[in-house]
Amino acid sequence: MTDVFGQSHKDSHEQVVFCADRQSGLRAIIAIYNTALGPALGGTRFYPYESEQAALADVLNLSKGMAYKNALAGLDLGGGKAVIIGDPTKDKNEALLRAYGRFVESLGGRYYTACDVGTFSEDMDLVARESRYVTGRTPAHGGAGDSSILTAFGVFQGMRASAAHLYGTSSLSGKRVGVEGVGKVGHRLVDHLIDDGAEVVVCDVSPAAVERVRQRHPSVEVVADARALTDSDIDVYAPCALGGALDDDTVERLRAKIVCGGANNQLAHVGVEKQLADRGILYAPDYVVNSGGVIQVADEIEGFSMDRARAKATQIFDTTLKIFGIAAEEGVPPAVAADRLAERRMSEVGRIRGIWLGG
Ligand SMILES: NC(=O)c1ccc[n+]([C@@H]2O[C@H](COP(=O)([O-])OP(=O)(O)OC[C@H]3O[C@@H](n4cnc5c(N)ncnc54)[C@H](O)[C@@H]3O)[C@@H](O)[C@H]2O)c1
Repeated sequence: MTDVFGQSHKDSHEQVVFCADRQSGLRAIIAIYNTALGPALGGTRFYPYESEQAALADVLNLSKGMAYKNALAGLDLGGGKAVIIGDPTKDKNEALLRAYGRFVESLGGRYYTACDVGTFSEDMDLVARESRYVTGRTPAHGGAGDSSILTAFGVFQGMRASAAHLYGTSSLSGKRVGVEGVGKVGHRLVDHLIDDGAEVVVCDVSPAAVERVRQRHPSVEVVADARALTDSDIDVYAPCALGGALDDDTVERLRAKIVCGGANNQLAHVGVEKQLADRGILYAPDYVVNSGGVIQVADEIEGFSMDRARAKATQIFDTTLKIFGIAAEEGVPPAVAADRLAERRMSEVGRIRGIWLGG
């Protein structure tokens, strides 16, 4: 690992910590992008990275993304993330998770961890036996449980705001919405859409996931795959599966006029946000509309209240509208407007920490 400072300086990370415990097999990296707004919060990804370099690149990227997400979610939290290198189905064990917990604790509250790909609330309960700085715990331990509940709710708020901006009404009633991926987030989004009177068409590579939705809502139409979905006559496209859904080809063919979904990192590369805008497609930035999950787990730090967390997630509607307003005013795509707004909050609110408190 040669160029660590080179990589982190490029994006100005505050701190990158390498953690190892040979006996349990722990190899983890914790990255803190910034703490301008408060302690860094972001999940722990347990993944069999091809190399340490790949793990480092991922954690640097993800921790930066969390800083922007937490800032626009209105949280007093900075951005951080951790990765544990390994196959969670084979390498996860109690000693490893607890060793990891001790490293989280050693940061003295600069970093709060939570679940991500490859880690679950039960794992966080183990990590929490060694550290006070853990959220996303099981309800038995005062945790919020499955974060997809408010993630889907927040995506729905973002979609209502997109409809309000484009059609002048926040209702999705009568609109045709294509949901790609009906897993934890996608199937809950379908519930909200059906309640609101939308027509819903879905696709998923898992027949069981599709079947679950069809059982709950027989009116839902199913198409073969993502290509069939994006090519079909839909008003709104909601990517809720993997990242990179919006590549050059998809944007070129897309018939929907709104894109708003739960998946992380929907834009396949820089520049897609402009292609969307040039085609007159309104893109609700992914990290803004999918922040309901982090709002849910962040609430645990105070002692979890679903009502309070839901009220905060409702604000995603206003934030999304505000971003569309800034985008129009400043003549930039909404993704750029969102980044600017997040940077503004980190800078303006972060600055007040410089006021000397005496003592
Ligand atoms: N769960 C959360 O709270 C949360 C929060 C923020 C962002 N996200 C993001 O939302 C997305 C979905 O997360 P989730 O928790 O619902 O995951 P999940 O694994 O429960 O669901 C994903 C679904 O997508 C399907 N899928 C995979 N590849 C597909 C493809 N090519 N075409 C169609 N369907 C496909 C899977 O079969 C699965 O049903 C992810 O990108 C995740 O990072 C989730």
